Amino acid sequence: MNADAQKRAAAARAVEFVRPGMKLGLGTGSTAKHFVDLVGERVRAGLDIVAVPTSEATRAQAEACGIRLTTLDETPALDLTVDGADEIDPHLSLIKGGGGALLREKIVAAASDRMIVISDPSKLVPTLGRFPLPVEVTPFGFTATLRAVEKAIAAIQLAGPLSLRLGKDGHPFVTDGGHWIIDAALERIDDPKAMAHALSGIPGVMEHGLFVGLAQTAIIGGPDGIKIIERP
Ligand code: A5P
Repeated sequence: MNADAQKRAAAARAVEFVRPGMKLGLGTGSTAKHFVDLVGERVRAGLDIVAVPTSEATRAQAEACGIRLTTLDETPALDLTVDGADEIDPHLSLIKGGGGALLREKIVAAASDRMIVISDPSKLVPTLGRFPLPVEVTPFGFTATLRAVEKAIAAIQLAGPLSLRLGKDGHPFVTDGGHWIIDAALERIDDPKAMAHALSGIPGVMEHGLFVGLAQTAIIGGPDGIKIIERP
């Protein structure tokens, strides 16, 4: 079973948590894509749900699948969000944002009664941080915000190199919200809560990719089947 088949198996297990009438949050990325696809199949077979996408890419996919979409303005409280992650630690703290959708992903997860994270086993780590931490910032005052991010990290731990994420065209990658992303190579984040708090306090930082206390359940598709991990 390759990684993509494992992601699909995790997504298929997550679909079993979807009940008729639910208001869903739809994640972003290659794993969440499987979930959207499988929910689409169920919708075409008659399942009645409504969903909020976490990115324009997911919106386009969900529309093509025939999933009825809503917004958090029309539907401010969701039952369940299912999304992927870049790293998952044993407390189910996550790093997200490798695909650049972290701001909407976090707003949607926070508006949900439950968040289930789905992945293959490669995302499970003992300590977060090997995956560079995405920090979404406003382009206005970028260099000042970058310095503030550097300082905030240095006050907590050794700061690795910070880089502005670039698109394929060599220009700054622009998120769905019109922001830029700083990728912070930290190697390990010993205190994700403290780091999250410090980054959230910086003007110009719209959001960071640390999801602490949001995911209750992880569904991991592995070579030996599905493993379900609940937050301790
Ligand atoms: C998107 O911004 C991310 O948070 C994704 O959820 C995360 O990068 C996982 O993506 P994959 O499922 O493609 O690995």
